[in-house]
Amino acid sequence: MTQLNITHVVVISLTAVFLLVALDRAGELRGPQPTYTPPAAPAPVVAAVVDPDKGKPPPHNDTVADLPDGNGREVTFYTCTACHGVALIKAQGLTRDLWDSTFDLMLERHKMAPVKPEERAEILDYLTEQFPPRRRGRNADNPFLK
Ligand code: HEC
Repeated sequence: MTQLNITHVVVISLTAVFLLVALDRAGELRGPQPTYTPPAAPAPVVAAVVDPDKGKPPPHNDTVADLPDGNGREVTFYTCTACHGVALIKAQGLTRDLWDSTFDLMLERHKMAPVKPEERAEILDYLTEQFPPRRRGRNADNPFLK
């Protein structure tokens, strides 16, 4: 039997260490490593879609008959429903002064086509007569407050 001397021990040990390091490097000695999942790519920034109808009142299918009968109904309908239905108008109850301001608002802010003075007067008469100020709110029908 060969004598095991210090040289052999050193050579065998170094070889063993070398092999262990090599195996370790090769990944043989480690369990499965967690796989790297790159973070989800940020959602692509879709350019803000510009809605050309934003801020525009909804379309409507109203007819003259949707306004209460009265003097100036036709001219009011045809002047005032180019952009919105009659619901917006009927929802209001205003004094003549306030209808007048509303008229200005339509002309200035909403770029309503100019209206002849006599037509404007007729429309204001109609609006004031049909949609005067009314009591609003939850107390409007309370008989105890009458
Ligand atoms: C050129 C377009 C245009 C015409 C014509 C027009 N309006 Fe308007 N009107 C608008 C727009 C736009 C709004 C805002 C709608 C909204 O907020 O959805 C509006 C809103 C209104 C409102 C609601 C205001 C409020 O404070 O809630 C009333 C009442 C109204 N209009 C009355 C009239 C009357 C009366 C006429 C006719 C004399 C008229 N409009 C004609 C564009 C128009």
